[in-house]
Amino acid sequence: MAKKTMKPGTMLNPLPAVMVSCGEGEDANIITIGWTGIINSEPPITYVSVRKSRHSHKLIAESGEYVINLTTEKLVKETDFCGVKSGRDLNKWTEMNLTKEPAEKVKCPMIGESPVNLECKVIEVKEYPTHDMFIGEIVNVHADESLFDEKGRLCLDQAGLISYSHGEYFGLKREPLGKFGYSIMKPKTRKRYEKELAQKRRNQYRKKKRDR
Ligand SMILES: Cc1cc2nc3c(=O)[nH]c(=O)nc-3n(C[C@H](O)[C@H](O)[C@H](O)COP(=O)(O)O)c2cc1C
Repeated sequence: MAKKTMKPGTMLNPLPAVMVSCGEGEDANIITIGWTGIINSEPPITYVSVRKSRHSHKLIAESGEYVINLTTEKLVKETDFCGVKSGRDLNKWTEMNLTKEPAEKVKCPMIGESPVNLECKVIEVKEYPTHDMFIGEIVNVHADESLFDEKGRLCLDQAGLISYSHGEYFGLKREPLGKFGYSIMKPKTRKRYEKELAQKRRNQYRKKKRDR
């Protein structure tokens, strides 16, 4: 493949686009973050990289807490708005009609409209020239009840999650293209998985028809 060399840059794509709530009570704010990820599984540890000049930077630094709220196709406008307006100038909750829902282990509120919320406590801050990385332990997770199937499994593919790539928001393809380890599945397991996939597609088709 012939390639063009570009100058070094933050060209990692796609990224998640999440809404991070921070601060307390009337001062609580929301910031859209693309620079987030998981860095450890047990205990679960994540981070958000926040530019030093952001209003939210001060709120997270002072409280040592934040909530990562996953975003969906229904929340794209809200996600963008919280990423272009500052909580210094307006109240993003009221402007975007978002509901403050109390969290259990941190004081900052969660976004009620988001299907999955990760409560985080800052355990370390790594300072870089433009951004500070707030490394946080995920101390609690909430997921919309309607996303669980009859066997109690979380069906996150039904949540309508979005991603962010090179300046644009994308809905995730709802039909999975494969799953963890599928490239090395034994033929019998692969057959079972393919049957599962077909069932998922049928459910998706029925849901789309119902929603129309
Ligand atoms: C999709 C998207 C992703 C963003 N990712 C980040 C990020 O990772 N870190 C950051 O500091 N700002 C990021 N921003 C910019 C902030 O969300 C934006 O400056 C926001 O207005 C800051 O709000 P605040 O001043 O209320 O804290 C992003 C914006 C968008 C739209």
